[in-house]
Amino acid sequence: PKRMRTVHLKQFKDAGQKFSMLTSYDAMTAQLFDAAGVEVLLVGDSAANVVMGRSTTLPITVEEMLVFAKSVVNGATRALVVVDLPFGSYEVSPQQAVETSVRVLKETGAQAVKLEGGAARAEHIRAVVAAGVPVMAHVGFTPQSEHAIGGYRVQGRGEAAEALRADALAVEEAGAFGVVMEMVPAEIAAQLESELTIPTIGIGAGAATTGQVLVWQDMLGLGSGRVPRFVKQYANLREVITEAVTAYRADVTAGTFPAAEHTFE
Ligand code: KIV
Ligand code: NA
Repeated sequence: PKRMRTVHLKQFKDAGQKFSMLTSYDAMTAQLFDAAGVEVLLVGDSAANVVMGRSTTLPITVEEMLVFAKSVVNGATRALVVVDLPFGSYEVSPQQAVETSVRVLKETGAQAVKLEGGAARAEHIRAVVAAGVPVMAHVGFTPQSEHAIGGYRVQGRGEAAEALRADALAVEEAGAFGVVMEMVPAEIAAQLESELTIPTIGIGAGAATTGQVLVWQDMLGLGSGRVPRFVKQYANLREVITEAVTAYRADVTAGTFPAAEHTFE
């Protein structure tokens, strides 16, 4: 099948069609999600949380992201692979953003990068795009700024709507091919989706965006913590895995695994 490209995401929007995006951090899930038709795989810095067990996304490094990104690229044949630039790897200057972005594409084979921030990152986005690297922006709640923002909270309510709008317009003007909007009121997200020419991708932003994105461990019920309001759980993998592993251990303890059919003569 043909590779999904950034231009196709714009075509989805222009045709009034939706696309789905899901995080992935390894080749096996990349292969599964790709085969299921998911259009975009995001190697999110949420790997810091759901893979590495950290409490924020801040500590993950470029080197760690490269390992996850290479793995996802190896498993994906059709989906567009987008890689998050981790905290501290792009904010210093447009030049730093270009250097990190070029490294990500060169060393992983991914097709695009994602970075957090709106108007404050417009020059960074412009420079990265000029270097030939497609950029997905990320506005609204941006987890890398959680300490500055003061925790996980809905962004763009009331008077803050105008600043959110300025951020979204700035990243489009800077050349981003799409923009993630995280935890913003559905009405504001709908307005920005229609105002922008590039597709918006929502997470906790209502149903009007062209794309939707979720962290796969959240939507498949693998996490142990509290489930955010914007997550729909499509499976309970935590239960499935716990039952299977408990049964395996019981078999080993009882001496009933391995059986004859698992044993070489
Ligand atoms: O890192 C991540 O998983 C993300 C998505 C939730 C948008 O940035
Ligand atoms: Na992220």
